[in-house]
Amino acid sequence: MELALYHPTYGYYMRTGQDDSARRIGWDGDFYTSSDVHAVFGRLLGRQLQQIDQVLAYPTPLTIVEMGPGKGTLAQDILQSLSADASLLSRLRYVLVERSPAMQAAQQRTLSPWAQQAGLVTWVESLEALPADSVVGAFLSNELVDAFPVHRVRIMEGVAHELTVTYREGRFVEQTQPLRNPALQAYVRRLSDLGITLTEGQTADINLQALTWMKQVAGILAKGLVCTIDYGHTAQDLFGPERRNGTLLGYRHQMLSEDPYQAVGLQDLTAHIDFSALATAGEEAGLAVTGFTNQMSFLMSLGIEQELERWEPGSREYQAIVQLLRPEGMGRTFKILIQHKGIPAPTLEGLRFKPFFGSALTPTPARGTRQEASGRPPSSPSPLASSLLP
Ligand SMILES: C[S@@+](CC[C@H](N)C(=O)[O-])C[C@H]1O[C@@H](n2cnc3c(N)ncnc32)[C@H](O)[C@@H]1O
Repeated sequence: MELALYHPTYGYYMRTGQDDSARRIGWDGDFYTSSDVHAVFGRLLGRQLQQIDQVLAYPTPLTIVEMGPGKGTLAQDILQSLSADASLLSRLRYVLVERSPAMQAAQQRTLSPWAQQAGLVTWVESLEALPADSVVGAFLSNELVDAFPVHRVRIMEGVAHELTVTYREGRFVEQTQPLRNPALQAYVRRLSDLGITLTEGQTADINLQALTWMKQVAGILAKGLVCTIDYGHTAQDLFGPERRNGTLLGYRHQMLSEDPYQAVGLQDLTAHIDFSALATAGEEAGLAVTGFTNQMSFLMSLGIEQELERWEPGSREYQAIVQLLRPEGMGRTFKILIQHKGIPAPTLEGLRFKPFFGSALTPTPARGTRQEASGRPPSSPSPLASSLLP
């Protein structure tokens, strides 16, 4: 998966020229993301970032680090939204972390109007370029973590095995070997500590890079928040009976494939993420969970209804905005994990409606029921929210 996505020449995200990686994201590409659906997504995130600026007492500089920015559309919409706040803009340092030169070039094209303002927008290839405790502000990502390569673990005759891949006689061939990687062994043990038992024949996609990444982020953030948006679940849901074949999928021409060995380097590969593991890794590194919600609740909390009111029901804009919210689609599949460090737990606008309850992220067998994360009572969903809820 690492090679299929990130081989310097043939990797899905690294291709240049006619096959340019950036063309693969969007309506005409292989898959689209929330920022392709409507600019309101970035606009509302901008609103949340403005409140974060306030929570941090208007620091100079206010640093926003966006990781895995794709074509740069989200950054563009956020910068557009923040440009209404002259004080914030004068203190803002927007750092894009992108490992793919092809994607970086696309971002530079999208953000060229902003890049002319000295120091406002800068790029780094990896988080290693950012010193420890150097950021006061926010880390942000949309669909980054699902693009990290995963390990596949399968239970065979009661024993956990890792699936590996070799290339033989012109074909990719899967092999199995007993689990030897200590980090994978620890992950499976942790699942069992949470009361999650992988059953015979079950496949689990395990994202170790997500844990390393979370710890790196925690080390760089001195004071502020981390906002991770992606499709994923709590460990209990991700490794439960409904997903016993794992969640590794390919995307090409807006079609889904369950075969990772076809069109290698030409199809995106992705797996759903384990938000419980992210929360735990973050906690171990000093990031406290501020809240965990889904995209529908997050955008509703940030005032998406006022944005909808500007459009005629049935218009293209209206339909696109509703698409971000649909409970059977983006609204509920996408989750938002927010963590904080160096500040007391903030009351964030985006977390006003809470469909989940704190213990869902770090469940214990004895405390499996879902309950509220904080003492705040949940706000009632608005009429639109209620009409979208099943
Ligand atoms: C699925 S795309 C998401 C694009 C964008 N955030 C959006 O919402 O449209 C994943 C992006 O993460 C980048 N990426 C993957 N691993 C990365 C890493 N370790 N550091 C920085 N960027 C990474 C990929 O090159 C790609 O731009």
